[in-house]
Amino acid sequence: MKAAVLHEIGGTPRYEDFPDPVAGDDEVVIDVKAVAVENVDKRIADGTHYASGQYTAQLPAVPGFDGVGALPDGTLVGFGNPRRPYGALAEKTVVPEGAYVPVAEGLDPAIATVLGTAITGMAVRTAAGFVPGQTVLVQGATGVAGRLAVQVVRLLGAGRIVATGRDDGQLREVRALGADEVINTAVPDEALTRAYLDAKGDGYDVVLDYLWGRPTEVLLRSLVPKSFAFPTPTRLIQIGESAGAAIALTADSLRTSGVEICGAAKGLSPQTMQEAYGQVVTWARSGELTFDVVRVPLSDIETAWQRTDLRGSRLVVVP
Ligand SMILES: NC(=O)c1ccc[n+]([C@@H]2O[C@H](COP(=O)([O-])OP(=O)(O)OC[C@H]3O[C@@H](n4cnc5c(N)ncnc54)[C@H](OP(=O)(O)O)[C@@H]3O)[C@@H](O)[C@H]2O)c1
Repeated sequence: MKAAVLHEIGGTPRYEDFPDPVAGDDEVVIDVKAVAVENVDKRIADGTHYASGQYTAQLPAVPGFDGVGALPDGTLVGFGNPRRPYGALAEKTVVPEGAYVPVAEGLDPAIATVLGTAITGMAVRTAAGFVPGQTVLVQGATGVAGRLAVQVVRLLGAGRIVATGRDDGQLREVRALGADEVINTAVPDEALTRAYLDAKGDGYDVVLDYLWGRPTEVLLRSLVPKSFAFPTPTRLIQIGESAGAAIALTADSLRTSGVEICGAAKGLSPQTMQEAYGQVVTWARSGELTFDVVRVPLSDIETAWQRTDLRGSRLVVVP
């Protein structure tokens, strides 16, 4: 079969022949239909993700740990967890029996494979206990995940949505998706602090954080009260780290600010995942949740992998 083949950590996968997978006991071979290429795939392949060792222990290997494909009986499924060195970015892959869920009928595989990202927006509810009317800050709203999150929280009934990015043109697009206010983070710390304070109104109830790094460090500092007062909660849900893997967290950022930090996995269970997925599928089908995909054939993987011009569109490989 043909596959995207990674020969070295930090290398670029190449379109090459790779042995066909053979299903072992309790495994099934998947005929791959669509795979979204995300930052996490690149970080695993370049050795900077905490799970890199798990996926690149044996090289050459095929990157990609989830996608949409067909079971031997033709049923379309979203699959995950291919047996290494197999991965999703190939004509075929092999996964444990049961490591898949049916794709809703009539859904385009390239759309279905991106919808997992939309579930991160649902973390307002699963991880932060969001209720309609609350104010949500989407930190890092110009990427695929952030754009989806703005739409998701709007559909869930947010009272006010503040969205951040570092490019005015893209922030205009995010406003059109439903953000009430936008903040450009590409300004000096003092101006950014001012912008977070000016936009917060009665306070951010929930922050969906796709950035971490400097913008989130400045945000947390901005939320330290300037006088003694009873705090109102701000639940910061950590989802991504586009702006940096580490921050300096001063003690007073937590002590009296009301800030609570947790990860997007909080509150997730097979049941809440299924509910969240069902909801985003419904919105995608009704056209209320939209996103752009750039489809490329597997044979173009080497150039596609290195693209930096996607501006909020998801790269989807269609083998
Ligand atoms: N936990 C999960 O389930 C999950 C799922 C999806 C995504 N994520 C994570 O969420 C983050 C965003 O993912 P995505 O799919 O939206 O990625 P994406 O479509 O590639 O977008 C990346 C975003 O980050 C911004 N960015 C990149 N470098 C930056 C920097 N140094 N400072 C400030 N902004 C920067 C980009 O802004 P420009 O457009 O201006 O370059 C863009 O808005 C990633 O860390 C990803 O791993 C997590």
